[in-house]
Amino acid sequence: MCGIIGYLGTQPAAEIVLGGLKRLEHLGYDSAGLATVADGQLHVRRAVGRLDGLAEALAAEPAPGTLGIGHTRWATHGRPSQENAHPHVDAAGRIALVHNGVIENHAAIRSFLEGQGVRFRSETDTESLAQLIGFFYSQTGDLLGSVRGALREARGTFGIAVACADAADTLIAARRGSPLIIGTGRDELIVASDAAALVGRVSQVTHLEDNEVVLLGPGGLRAVTVDAKPIEKQLEPLEASLEEASLGGYAHHMQKEIFEQPDALRNAMRGRVRPGADRVTLGGLKSFERELPRFRRALLFGCGTSWHAALIGEYLLEELAGISTEVEYASELRYRNPLIQEGTVAIALSQSGETADTIAALREVQSRGAVTLGIVNGVGSTIARETDAGVYLHAGPEIGVASTKAFTAQIAVLAMIALDLGRRRHLSPERTAELIDELAAIPEKVTKALELDGQAKRLAQRLVDRQNWLYLGRGVNFPTALEGALKLKEVSYVHAEGLPAAEMKHGPLAMIDAGMPVIVIAPQDRTYEKVLANIREVKSREGRVIAVASEGDERIAELADEVLFVPRTSPLLAPLVATIPLQLLSYHAALARGHDVDKPRNLAKSVTE
Ligand code: F6R
Repeated sequence: MCGIIGYLGTQPAAEIVLGGLKRLEHLGYDSAGLATVADGQLHVRRAVGRLDGLAEALAAEPAPGTLGIGHTRWATHGRPSQENAHPHVDAAGRIALVHNGVIENHAAIRSFLEGQGVRFRSETDTESLAQLIGFFYSQTGDLLGSVRGALREARGTFGIAVACADAADTLIAARRGSPLIIGTGRDELIVASDAAALVGRVSQVTHLEDNEVVLLGPGGLRAVTVDAKPIEKQLEPLEASLEEASLGGYAHHMQKEIFEQPDALRNAMRGRVRPGADRVTLGGLKSFERELPRFRRALLFGCGTSWHAALIGEYLLEELAGISTEVEYASELRYRNPLIQEGTVAIALSQSGETADTIAALREVQSRGAVTLGIVNGVGSTIARETDAGVYLHAGPEIGVASTKAFTAQIAVLAMIALDLGRRRHLSPERTAELIDELAAIPEKVTKALELDGQAKRLAQRLVDRQNWLYLGRGVNFPTALEGALKLKEVSYVHAEGLPAAEMKHGPLAMIDAGMPVIVIAPQDRTYEKVLANIREVKSREGRVIAVASEGDERIAELADEVLFVPRTSPLLAPLVATIPLQLLSYHAALARGHDVDKPRNLAKSVTE
């Protein structure tokens, strides 16, 4: 996904747009640009690379005006270059457009317009939309009508902001499949693809729905459908605070978010988990009170880290709720023929709530009659709005590209859902109360696990030259191993693989050579003895074993080369603490290699296309 912002107010727009883009840079960072409107002209500045390039271009040649649109790009169509950077401008130089999404029929639009004599300047799909709006506008002079007309022709997905050289007081935004939020502040209106850009400037927001077009102007906000039907938009308070979106003394967002986990977990459990209680309270499922005991099968889906959380959910739901559970990659589920029987609850997991594959999978299972729940962090996001009910993570904004606090919050929410469903079936009040107490104690244990920071740093520095790592775990810690490996790959660009420890001897053992780092997650649960046997296998091939083990475990200390000791907890909740040293290790491994942990190469925070 790329980052979009549009500003209309009384302040210098370029400054505010640039400030907003800085907050969106995690969504795309290979090129950036902005356009302002003043003196009947568009003032466009674009630069390849990080936002510093755009800031320099603006310092050299300021862009005047109090209306502006901006974009920070993650290239999909066309390489990162100045010509391909947004905003794109129509041939007459009157219309500027920033766009998130993909215009699928861009080639057809382009060939039609070229046939009309329009000259294109870039390789992007976006330019076709800018040119089409410009083409209609040159014939009619009606800005809103031209935008609507072009959007009716466009196939694919878009979140757009449009500025026009002839209207220094009018900004247009529209959405189909790509998120857009409008914020209203004092004497200003801002549109952005993510709430992070609005925090601290506006207090009220409204989310655009698919096929809605809004005109921001002197009269405020006016919304219509692409087919010109008027719509009433409701404003709601913007929940995130400026403090949450800033670094607050940490070096990186990833580091901050790792260390925020005790609080994020407390927030995820606030009002839902009470020590001593024998039930959890999930307000988000209240409307489902009657259906809950009837669920016989759960289908969990998501991508990347959210998929790993779903895999942990499978263990939790089967063990605690006694519900047969399947987990699917959303990207696969959407193209399969999923069989949805009566009593199936489909649960979408997503930090952002905007991942394209997860949204598509959600719509697919809904079209087949599934009841759907969302486990989502992004308040008001597409998945949160389109699911029948759900439980928010309340983990606060996650800005680092590598997901950390959302992962542990997802596990906590899954544990609460499993306890809720379990308690409505066979789970005794005593066992439920015991697990609730354990859950309530998790934030403290995570705080303790964070003390491993120094050890993780030294370890990462010693292993800086190792290019292949293995992560092993069993049972509920197999997904923890997958997540550990993913974290390392994405920020340090080191090859890492996560495996169920017992699978080693079915092939991967052949990869072990002298000194290869093998991270083994080995809490003292029912798989412990087996895991010790797996460690011996690795050691006899001279692999270097780093164990994540329960505090006070002396046996493992004798076997492994190094142990990261984490507090003991109930075996089912072990991923919540075992994940912490794995996150710290990845963070420090990336720093030791000199990488930008918050903006890993080739990745952006949300994959909305
Ligand atoms: C990994 C990571 C990604 C996301 C995935 C799904 O650290 O961040 O793998 O987990 O793109 O994103 P959401 O959860 O926003 O749907």
